[in-house]
Amino acid sequence: MSASPQTLRAPIEQRLPMTLPRLAEKRRLGEAIVMITAYDYPSAQVAEEAGVDVVLVGDSGAMTVLGYPSTVPVSVEEMLMLAAAARRGLRTPLLVGDLPFGSYEASDELAVSTAQRFVKEAGCDAVKLEGGGTSVARAHAVAAAGIPVMGHVGLTPQTAIALGGYRAQGRTAQRALDVANDALALQEAGCFAVVFEAIPAAVTSEIMARMEVPVIGIGAGGSPDGQVLVFHDLLGIYDGHAPRFAKRYAELKAVMVGAVIEYAGEVRRHRFPGPEHAYSIDPEELEGFRQRLG
Ligand code: KIV
Repeated sequence: MSASPQTLRAPIEQRLPMTLPRLAEKRRLGEAIVMITAYDYPSAQVAEEAGVDVVLVGDSGAMTVLGYPSTVPVSVEEMLMLAAAARRGLRTPLLVGDLPFGSYEASDELAVSTAQRFVKEAGCDAVKLEGGGTSVARAHAVAAAGIPVMGHVGLTPQTAIALGGYRAQGRTAQRALDVANDALALQEAGCFAVVFEAIPAAVTSEIMARMEVPVIGIGAGGSPDGQVLVFHDLLGIYDGHAPRFAKRYAELKAVMVGAVIEYAGEVRRHRFPGPEHAYSIDPEELEGFRQRLG
């Protein structure tokens, strides 16, 4: 498959659907894995056209598209609706659905049945869950049920309060060891990949040497096998708090507000719609209509 040298992405017609073996192969070959979040049909279409490898319907959508103050309140039903919409906009990237807070922690049975809903009702290829501890057993149960599962260590927003807030993790020797143990346990449990969030780059590099599955970093330095960013952070659509690792590649909110202001101004000055936006009718038909109307 030939890639354009500017963007390192294959032409759309040559792209093959992403699979777990292909993802592992990318890691083995040292080809960076590109992951982005998406939460609906248009954002998924953007991800598809841009040629990313993995799309995550993250529970960050609770904040970026549903307006909640954190990821905690979002329900399984809300996540399923977002994931199903993203599915309809995708053909090639692997689609991962984030299991929301409270939908998997209590038991292996709960984790498996929620994961099955993401596959069956929303068409996800895989699911993601957060944390080590009891999440290791949940990840093992989901993988054993035949559903690919992605782990997530370091800053895990669903339990941010217990971690002391939205802050980098693994900044002491003991906490770095805790992160390493969580990542290795998730790998051992059968996760096909693990997200490392907000971890010192040097700590990530040390753990990378022990990882055998793809690691996707977000605020974890350059050593992971791939990177993920939140769609709305990357495009400058979301106004809430942006962490230091959220590089903005565009300022689309300003563009969108500007366009709506221009539209409102044209409506108020009677400049929109113009003749080019209106439908015509044959003059004879119009005359006939007038007469019938009386
Ligand atoms: O919910 C999300 O968007 C995530 C990514 C930041 C990995 O979990």
